[in-house]
Amino acid sequence: MHSIEFYRSEFISYLDSKLTAKEPVNLYEPINYILKLGGKRLRPTLVLLTAEIFETNYQKALDAALAVEVFHNFSLVHDDIMDAAPVRRGKATVHEKWDVNTGILSGDAMLIWAYQLFENYKTHIFRGLAELFSTTALQVCEGQQYDVDFETRDDVALSDYLKMIEYKTAVLVAAAMKMGAIVAEVSETSQQDMYNFGLNLGIAFQIQDDYLDAFGDPKTFGKQVGGDIIENKKTYLFIKAMESGSKTVKKELLDLYSIQPQEPEEKIEAVKTIFEESGASIAAQEAIKAYTEKAFVILESLELAQEKKDVLRKFGENLMRRTV
Ligand code: IPE
Ligand code: IPE
Ligand code: MG
Ligand code: MG
Ligand code: MG
Repeated sequence: MHSIEFYRSEFISYLDSKLTAKEPVNLYEPINYILKLGGKRLRPTLVLLTAEIFETNYQKALDAALAVEVFHNFSLVHDDIMDAAPVRRGKATVHEKWDVNTGILSGDAMLIWAYQLFENYKTHIFRGLAELFSTTALQVCEGQQYDVDFETRDDVALSDYLKMIEYKTAVLVAAAMKMGAIVAEVSETSQQDMYNFGLNLGIAFQIQDDYLDAFGDPKTFGKQVGGDIIENKKTYLFIKAMESGSKTVKKELLDLYSIQPQEPEEKIEAVKTIFEESGASIAAQEAIKAYTEKAFVILESLELAQEKKDVLRKFGENLMRRTV
């Protein structure tokens, strides 16, 4: 096993070697742009890491890792259109820098490219990867639709929310780990163990994404702080504030979530105050910890060398501490 940083940097070198200038420029430039903007490279790192946990050279997993990262970036390009987000990784989003049509088509091409990368595997691995990927990608679309539908609903229950984030975010983290296991050709049970670990980590990850969207540091966060509040997103913070706040606080929050002011700063500040005073912000931090712990319980139950469990645990702990 190598360090997490090793897999990350090997992945980045591989990605860089695949990004070349192609025509038509207006199709491929945005693809190179978003993929070079950086990001944490969490999912491809997990693909490589998981392959090596099962004694398979990470190089065999590079194309699967690339497919996951390309798909993830496709989903971000379209997500930013849907969320009207101006900034991604500290830079202009694709639809801001170019336009919405460019974002749609470049995104589509990335989705196709992601599938194409599986063709580099022999038949039965190809089949395993493609089947998992199709199921996962469709779930991501379902999660994204729920996310948008919830913007205009005020009766979203915690269980609705949890299903929504499982689909829009957690299944891809889970699938990344399962892909590493598929490439390593291990048993269905081992594949599923990795999937379950990744799923809980992914749920924690999205709750933290919600938390940072409101409380992240604007100087380092890389996205528009308060973007979810502007878009009336039914985040973990919102759901918990509605659950725990008094009648007046609930009414205030619902009123704030029914307006779309030109200058959103006041709305953002008022909503954040409610999130803090209602205990929602603490509840979010507890939930991040609880889902990460749930992932660790799964991890401990597995028959893996302690050294390997330690690497995965470290990965989870680092995620919990993240600020971007
Ligand atoms: C952002 O994912 C979208 C979510 C599912 C929350 P990341 O936070 O992994 O984004 P990058 O790739 O590091 O920028
Ligand atoms: C994104 O959720 C999930 C997908 C892109 C599929 P968000 O909308 O919360 O992600 P960010 O915050 O824009 O990265
Ligand atoms: Mg978004
Ligand atoms: Mg979104
Ligand atoms: Mg978000």
